This record gives sequence, C-alpha cells and structure tokens, in this order.
Amino acid sequence: MIEICPSVLSADFAHLADEVEKVAAAGADLLHVDVMDGHFVPNLTLGPPIVEALARLGKLPLDVHLMIEQPDRWIEIYARAGARRLSVHQETCPHLHRTLEAIRQAGAEVGVALNPATPLSTITEILPLVDTVLVMSVNPGFSGQRFIDSAIGKVETLAAMVRQAECRPRIQVDGGVGAGNIARLVAAGATSFVAGNAVFGADDPAAAVASLRAAGESGA
Ligand code: DX5
Ligand code: ZN
Repeated sequence: MIEICPSVLSADFAHLADEVEKVAAAGADLLHVDVMDGHFVPNLTLGPPIVEALARLGKLPLDVHLMIEQPDRWIEIYARAGARRLSVHQETCPHLHRTLEAIRQAGAEVGVALNPATPLSTITEILPLVDTVLVMSVNPGFSGQRFIDSAIGKVETLAAMVRQAECRPRIQVDGGVGAGNIARLVAAGATSFVAGNAVFGADDPAAAVASLRAAGESGA
C-alpha cells in the first residue's frame, strides 16, 4: 500500500476547501502541509490558523512538515491545531531525540526529515523512535523544483537500514515526485509520496492522484 499526500503548497489558496475536497474525493491518503518560517528555508508559507482550518474541514488527516527553526516551541501548538503527523528537520534539532519524544508526547505521529545533503548516518540512533523518515528530493522551500536523482539511492540505503534495525518507519519522499519517478522510488523502498505540482499543477488534480497511485503501484 502506498500513500499519496498532495501538498497544499501548490493548491489555489483562494479556494483551499475546494482543492482539498477534490483530492480527498480522489482517494488521497493525507494532506501534506508545508510550514516554512523564512529562516530555515527561504520562503514563508502558513501557520497554526490555517492548519486548524484544514483540520476543521475534516477531509484528510494532516501531514505537517515543519521547515522551521526551533521546532520544539511549536510542536504542542501544531498537534493541538490538528496535525496527525509532525515531521521536523534533523538539521533544525540539536536535541533530536528529545524533540521526537515531544512529538510522541503531544499525540502526533513522529516524522524526521532530511535535506538532500544530510547523510542517513545522522538518524541511525533515533530510527526506532520514528514512524516516518522523510527524504527530501529537492532543497526545501518551494514547490515545482526538479527532482534530485541521488534521492533514489538514498531511499535504497535507508530501506536497507530499516530492514536491519528493529523498527519499521515508512519512507516518504518529498520534492519533484511525479508519474515519471514514483515507480523507481517504490522499487527503492519508499511507500509515501508528497506531490505538489504533480497534483495541483495538473488540469485535473483528482485524475493526477489516481495516475500517481497507478504509476506507484506498478513499481511495487
Ligand atoms: C518543498 C516542500 C514540498 C513541496 C513539494 O520544500 O516540502 O512539500 O510542496 O512540491 P513539488 O511536488 O511540486 O516538488
Ligand atoms: Zn513538504
């Protein structure tokens, strides 16, 4: 089973409820919500009130990707706002173990994200604490960037690490994912896919969700 998580960053913010409704009806699994602070990444997006509004819509569980400095200050707030899953960046957490425990404590699923330049060795020790490892396949900050091919090998290596460890976190890929690379990512061991431009940039976002799933399942 693969997860398709459309990213609201590429949606039409003037018609957010309609956009979410379209992808929910098409069978998307979670709604990916990119929170950016203009410090850790060179873009500023949305905060707790929008997350709360999306949670109130009740259409899809929220997969909240925190691209912010000092995420510890915000974990409780986003969990209370309705995040089902909270992913923090390894690069922003000097006390990553503590931060991941705080996410669990707040009642959300635990995710850790890695930038393209961050090695997998930085998460070996905390793998048993997480439900999801998010492998960035672009440098975070914007939708519509080109997929970085080395992410495929990184997913393969991570899948081997996960098999060896006594844990089963899902492997999620975010950035430039589309019908042209999703099957290769599934074959490499990923099971969860964020897609911004490939879904909301398409004429028919519902059809795009379906074709991503079909392309992904062909790689299984
Ligand atoms: C990038 C974000 C992604 C982005 C994906 O920093 O984390 O979630 O919205 O968009 P696409 O699929 O267009 O690369
Ligand atoms: Zn994201």
